[in-house]
Amino acid sequence: MATGHFLTLLDIAPDHLEQLIHRAIELKAMLRRNENYQPFRNKVLAMIFEKSSTRTRVSFEAAMIQCGGGAMFLSPRDTQLGRGEPVADTARVLSRMADIIMIRTFEHEKIETFARHSQVPVINALTDSFHPCQLLADIQTYVEHRGSIRGKTVAWIGDGNNMCHSYINAARQFGFQLRIACPPGFEPESSLVANNADRVTITPSAGEAVAGAHLVVTDVWASMGQEQEQMARMQAFSHFQVSPQLMDQADASALFMHCLPAHRGEEISDDMLEDPRSVVWDEAENRLHAQKALMEYLLGTWKP
Ligand code: CP
Ligand code: NVA
Repeated sequence: MATGHFLTLLDIAPDHLEQLIHRAIELKAMLRRNENYQPFRNKVLAMIFEKSSTRTRVSFEAAMIQCGGGAMFLSPRDTQLGRGEPVADTARVLSRMADIIMIRTFEHEKIETFARHSQVPVINALTDSFHPCQLLADIQTYVEHRGSIRGKTVAWIGDGNNMCHSYINAARQFGFQLRIACPPGFEPESSLVANNADRVTITPSAGEAVAGAHLVVTDVWASMGQEQEQMARMQAFSHFQVSPQLMDQADASALFMHCLPAHRGEEISDDMLEDPRSVVWDEAENRLHAQKALMEYLLGTWKP
């Protein structure tokens, strides 16, 4: 059987994704009860980070420690990857030693190449194009607070970036409508939008996207790797800030999410994270539980 990877949300069938979210909720309850559950005993997770991280690194490492395994942090600065050893060679070698591999990098093609040459499951921990692990945590958070997201309306405000792309995939896999509000020139990948035309719409008006929405989500205006565009983007996105006033136009039950790190005064107002509709801290914590469920699924220690 071919090794199962998790490069985008499309790699796991919708019914399995739904069960994985419920498994994450169960694993969270088990941890709260202090249950000793160690399905990853003797398992090794190799974590390659070519970009910075707080939540992703800590959640994967904590998940392995709590479940009886080990995780190693690898940066290009200290490995031969940074000195030009081909990705395919690195994949062949690491996958003979590690049981599962997590990568955060730039070009999505790089993780695809890596996965093609890996004997063990590869997890996308963010590329320039997608951030699927974050979506597992986001959906878990919505389900915990409001129940199923199926049939609901989600408003994405801001850049058509990696998170936005993963929201498009999530709309397809979890069955919700997605309204994207972004300035002209910062739309998500057109082929991805075209392939999901029945559930994704794009508007240049944040107010229009948010009207009656059940979940409002945003992200930074300049992603990692776009630091030199920061000033130009500040201008382009100035009408795309999420604030409690914008949230007032959403449904009365609406929640607010942000994958973090956040920039107060840019994509969110100073008071947005403290607003009662914000669930960003639960969302951040759920990275831990959702990724445990994901690794259980990929390692076969739990089956839906
Ligand atoms: N949301 C997220 O992936 O955070 P980090 O960049 O801190 O890992
Ligand atoms: N879009 C952001 C997400 C960070 C978690 C970035 O790629 O930098």
